[in-house]
Amino acid sequence: MEVTKAVIPAAGFGTRFLPVTKAQPKEMMPVLDKPTIQYVVEEAIAAGIEDILIITGRGKQAIERHFDKSYELEEALEAAGKTDRLNRVEEIADLGDIHYVRQKEREGLGDAVRYAEKHVGENPFALLLGDTIIESDTPCTQTLIEHAEAHDVSTLSLERVPWAQVSSYGVADADIDDDTDLTDESFPVSDFIEKPAREDAPSNLAITGRYIFTAEIFDALDATEKGVGGELQLTDAIRKLTDIRGVELTGDRYDIGTIPSWLRANIEMSLQYDDGEMNAAVEEFLQERFR
Ligand code: UTP
Repeated sequence: MEVTKAVIPAAGFGTRFLPVTKAQPKEMMPVLDKPTIQYVVEEAIAAGIEDILIITGRGKQAIERHFDKSYELEEALEAAGKTDRLNRVEEIADLGDIHYVRQKEREGLGDAVRYAEKHVGENPFALLLGDTIIESDTPCTQTLIEHAEAHDVSTLSLERVPWAQVSSYGVADADIDDDTDLTDESFPVSDFIEKPAREDAPSNLAITGRYIFTAEIFDALDATEKGVGGELQLTDAIRKLTDIRGVELTGDRYDIGTIPSWLRANIEMSLQYDDGEMNAAVEEFLQERFR
């Protein structure tokens, strides 16, 4: 298989972040000076993908505007000699070939993925959640693509989470011990359990928001009934796939869907920001605040 397309669902209501998400998409929440979904698009591009489909919905127009060319703004920045900001703005419109399709009703992540079928056809594709940033030396999607192409099967990025948190995630049933070194290896996964109680969890390997699917996922979604919350759950469809592998995530994952996790993304990423000013300012503030 060869993965050349990516799908980014970004149509959810973002209810956990209301009221800020009432009129602005959760995926446009800024982390430092970029909206979250720009990091996601950049990860796909860095993984070699040039064809991106974003699943949007009502009230999500800001996403399309962000990736569009902005002639008036560019002219104004140029006239003002603000070259640095001009370059940053111009880079955005050069980010690959971005297409959009609207999810008509918010019926869950699984339903959102179904809207990609016409665009991707029989091809395998990468799925990147629009509200999750993953920072790693090799883009997470690139690692996944390499493993998926090597085995010719759907492959998911999985992260070892603290056992106390397994009930917040979809968790993999894989024949793996707590201390097995998974670096550079992909491994077969026999099943997934959505949000298990600690004692029922088959592992602490949680789904992270990055996937490679073969077109088999669309048949699996068609054969899946609505589940928890009356939504079509992607995990329920994944369980129907005949063959699936996992890869352990090696980078830092920031799900920006709640206020604490969004704040954490901003603080941690500002400390790593390599401009010599922002990281120093944030570090100084934190040291003062917690002295
Ligand atoms: P979430 O479940 O985290 O997003 O979906 P949500 O539903 O917007 O958030 P809450 O629970 O109401 O706070 C993960 C990703 O899937 C997309 C979201 O936009 C998010 O990027 N999604 C979710 C869809 O595209 N459509 C849906 O029906 C649901």
